[in-house]
Amino acid sequence: MNDTDTTLPEKRRILVTSALPYANGPIHLGHLVEYIQTDIWVRFQKLRGNQCIYVCADDAHGTPIMLKARQEGITPEQLIEQIGREHRADFADFLIGFDNYYTTHSEENRYFAELIYQRLKEGGHIVRRTITQAYDPEAGMFLPDRFIKGECPRCGAPDQYGDSCEVCGATYAPTELKNAVSTISGAKPVERETEHYFFKLSDFGGMLREWVNQKERLQPEIRNKLKEWFEAGLQDWDISRDAPYWGFEIPDAPGKYFYVWLDAPVGYMASFKNYCDRHDCSFDRFWSREAESDTELYHFIGKDIAYFHTLFWPAMLEGAGFRKPTAVWCHGFLTIDGQKMSKSRNTFIRARSYLKHLDPEYLRYYFAAKLGSGVDDIDLNLQDFMARVNSDLVGKLVNIASRCAGFIGKHFDHRLAERLPDPELYTAFVRSGEEIASLYEKREYGHAMREIMALADVANQYIDEQKPWVLIKESGREKEVQAICTQGINLFRILITYLKPVVPRLAERAEQFLAGGQTDWTAVEKPLLSHRVAPFKPLLTRVEERAIDALLQEAREESTAATPPAPQAEPIAETISIGDFARLDLRIARIVEAETVEGADKLLRLTLDLGGETRNVFAGIKSAYAPEQLRGRLTVMVANLAPRKMRFGISEGMVLAAGPGGKDLFLLSPDEGAQPGMRVK
Ligand code: 2FM
Ligand code: ZN
Repeated sequence: MNDTDTTLPEKRRILVTSALPYANGPIHLGHLVEYIQTDIWVRFQKLRGNQCIYVCADDAHGTPIMLKARQEGITPEQLIEQIGREHRADFADFLIGFDNYYTTHSEENRYFAELIYQRLKEGGHIVRRTITQAYDPEAGMFLPDRFIKGECPRCGAPDQYGDSCEVCGATYAPTELKNAVSTISGAKPVERETEHYFFKLSDFGGMLREWVNQKERLQPEIRNKLKEWFEAGLQDWDISRDAPYWGFEIPDAPGKYFYVWLDAPVGYMASFKNYCDRHDCSFDRFWSREAESDTELYHFIGKDIAYFHTLFWPAMLEGAGFRKPTAVWCHGFLTIDGQKMSKSRNTFIRARSYLKHLDPEYLRYYFAAKLGSGVDDIDLNLQDFMARVNSDLVGKLVNIASRCAGFIGKHFDHRLAERLPDPELYTAFVRSGEEIASLYEKREYGHAMREIMALADVANQYIDEQKPWVLIKESGREKEVQAICTQGINLFRILITYLKPVVPRLAERAEQFLAGGQTDWTAVEKPLLSHRVAPFKPLLTRVEERAIDALLQEAREESTAATPPAPQAEPIAETISIGDFARLDLRIARIVEAETVEGADKLLRLTLDLGGETRNVFAGIKSAYAPEQLRGRLTVMVANLAPRKMRFGISEGMVLAAGPGGKDLFLLSPDEGAQPGMRVK
């Protein structure tokens, strides 16, 4: 597209990004929610004739990448090169149409990271401060919180990370952990002083408050979250890390590196710059401060990284004299058959495994059918996935074409009639296009898919009523059959146009069949008449149950292969007497209510029915269970534990779970027949 083109004043100029995936692991189905969501939006904009450029990159810096490379005995450059290649292939095969896919480990990114830093510094927004941090004397490096493990200072749970306890929800400094060890070397961390660079986020408080409150900038859920963050106060942001670190060294600070999260969003600019250098496209037109008035910038991200994109990032841009995003759009997480994605639950499905067994467009359609503009999690239920794709895409949509194409080919030498028998029906389909377009624009894809499928029902109903298969047997009624099938094929052409952002390859095959009958929102205003279509070939096959079984089997095998050998068995605790055990009152409990707790990242509030009484218990299981998975089920609780006062209320007992933590927590459940209140002994 020509950037200097002024003949189409109404054409929007839009730059779109998806979050940059870390270059230390494979793309999985959870990632794909975002890339598919973004790609549909971008394809839709292009189809509407707007200039829309979609850029992304690998997020190639940080401690985990440095350590992973070390572990594999290769350089970080080699690691990010190899993972980058895999990511590109996965995205291409899922038909994610990036205009540019780059890496944050690039000269463009170094240039912009340094430029932004320099400008922030000149503006007085960077301060240096000495802090105390955990240091691994054996590995010779400072330790990020997640590389320290120990016992929770509050509840004593073993194996907790350096910043918070997954069992009781406490948050603390890594120095407070008991018996802490570095997960890198196993050494006991020591405290050491070091000078760090901080970005004074609070300098931008006024601007940010105003920015986030502008209409359409953020979703209501995210705006509310921001209100909480503003109330909690904007803290300075630590943007430096000490060597050894894998990233860009800070220009005037030898041995200090930019924290990966500083140069990651800058990667959006760098990828776009790299694109501009190879196309007729002006960088400043999109990123200068003035660009805010006539170009649009949208970031699609997961809700977990909203803080970076709605506070740090706009503040950095403002402080460095660049434009700010038009909007930041968050989505929820993916669950698979109601479970969080987890290797040990066999619900960790890699993009590549999926591709070995199933067509990427099935998933694109299924996600589209489930996505809205909100931040709710979406569930991939594999039975529902199969039923939905088979009934909508194969049974409804493709069926329209296949029912009509046979007659047109066999009896009319592939030629469509000169006239539509029901032009009003056609016009009604065309008119629906504006409503469907506005749903795409608002990211209400699920709603858009329902509208399209409702039209597909109408088209099928039309064919059912006209019964071309009966008419064709009656002599002298051939023309009618040709007209009915022409109507059917034209309705199909409109629908496949509306679905093109979601299933571009299916649309391409349909276009081959339509043989030059263009498909875009404007082209379909005019029906295809007296036109020769190509011989019809099946457009899409059904999802087979055995393909899903094979995929699950592969996910199972992969997770067994990837699961590290059982963690060194925790030594069996000291022997106790039967009397000691009897002091423990374990009861069957029914979880009658489960809900998230405002302000607690790891806790769920459970209401437990013990037969005669109910208890309120806070359980650190949010990382492994969604509330709706828990409601109604039975479990086991310690009923005579002294009540504990927590930040969020009083916890009256404890539910029992096994596993190391995170996604790998497994609640106990009794065999069938157990009733709430029964004692476990
Ligand atoms: O959370 C993540 O996976 C990050 N790699 C996302 C970075 S998005 C942007 F800021 F670069
Ligand atoms: Zn704890």
